[in-house]
Amino acid sequence: MASITVQPELLLERVLTLEIVRVTERAAVSSARLRGRGQEKAADQAAVDAMRRELNKLPIDGTVVIGEGEIDEAPMLFIGEKVGNKAGPKVDIAVDPLEGTTLCAKNMPGAIATIAMAEAGTLLHAPDCYMDKIAIGPGYPKGTIDLDAPAEENIIRLAKAKGVKPSEITAILLDRPRHADKIAAIRKLGAAVSLITDGDVAGVILCADPKTGIDIYLGSGGAPEGVLAAAALRCIGGQMQTRLIIDTEALRERTLKMGIKDAKKKYEIEDMAKGDCLFAATGVTSGAMLAGVKFGKDVIKTETVVMRSATGTVRWVRADHRQFNKFHLG
Ligand code: FBP
Repeated sequence: MASITVQPELLLERVLTLEIVRVTERAAVSSARLRGRGQEKAADQAAVDAMRRELNKLPIDGTVVIGEGEIDEAPMLFIGEKVGNKAGPKVDIAVDPLEGTTLCAKNMPGAIATIAMAEAGTLLHAPDCYMDKIAIGPGYPKGTIDLDAPAEENIIRLAKAKGVKPSEITAILLDRPRHADKIAAIRKLGAAVSLITDGDVAGVILCADPKTGIDIYLGSGGAPEGVLAAAALRCIGGQMQTRLIIDTEALRERTLKMGIKDAKKKYEIEDMAKGDCLFAATGVTSGAMLAGVKFGKDVIKTETVVMRSATGTVRWVRADHRQFNKFHLG
């Protein structure tokens, strides 16, 4: 059979779009085997191992820029780790092999395995700290939201842009004591608050899908999760602004070492993910965005969403993996 040759410039744009589905599928299946076992670390490690194994099969010269931590604290997929077989383009990789470790350990809705991939040098190298975030879906005029404005003002602006009353807006936030004031202010305005216990990559993405009824993400969460969510919004459209929360001297030093000079910088989506990028997520436990892994006698079912910024194409991949396939040995 004649072999198919792919121009190197098409690798990132087309071929890898489907290849990264395999990466998140395998991470999701591996961690799903530990769902509900109360073992956060073991489930995370299973996802990391599977994701790393699959990444190393890809025709990329990849560098992990958002990973499981720094080299001395993360055994695998640490920031700066090289992945791929080097037979392809140089890419930046952001991973969260198990986003929502607690959700998985408690078998609660919304755990996912997720990755973003982009041209080298185009993803923000963010430290593992908190980040203030605000995000809305596509279709609103530029400047509808502002990270520095109070939550109420953002909701009023968004309601105006949407052509509804503020009371018809729903905001999504992580259920944390640090968000108590924001939540109270939003409710005082008559708007609805949808609280999630974990998983704010999906929290941001839900704003871009009108079917979810979620209009705006507000509050602080992990910076790595912020970069992953920004990559997804680059693909599907929407607005997002963020700022790192650098509140200790040690963190300030680490941030400087990572090349971030202005610790107070307000990031737009393009500052976090510029250039051509890909995003994929596979459900580990079923949630508002994705169905979780289902184990059958002869088949394992997964659901993945994969997106590409160059075209804005979003694919939903429902896969049946047969048990006799080597896939399942991982
Ligand atoms: P993990 O998967 O690392 O546990 O992260 C879950 C998560 O809920 C993220 O989605 C979110 O950005 C972050 O934790 C919020 O951090 P905290 O739980 O400290 O408020």
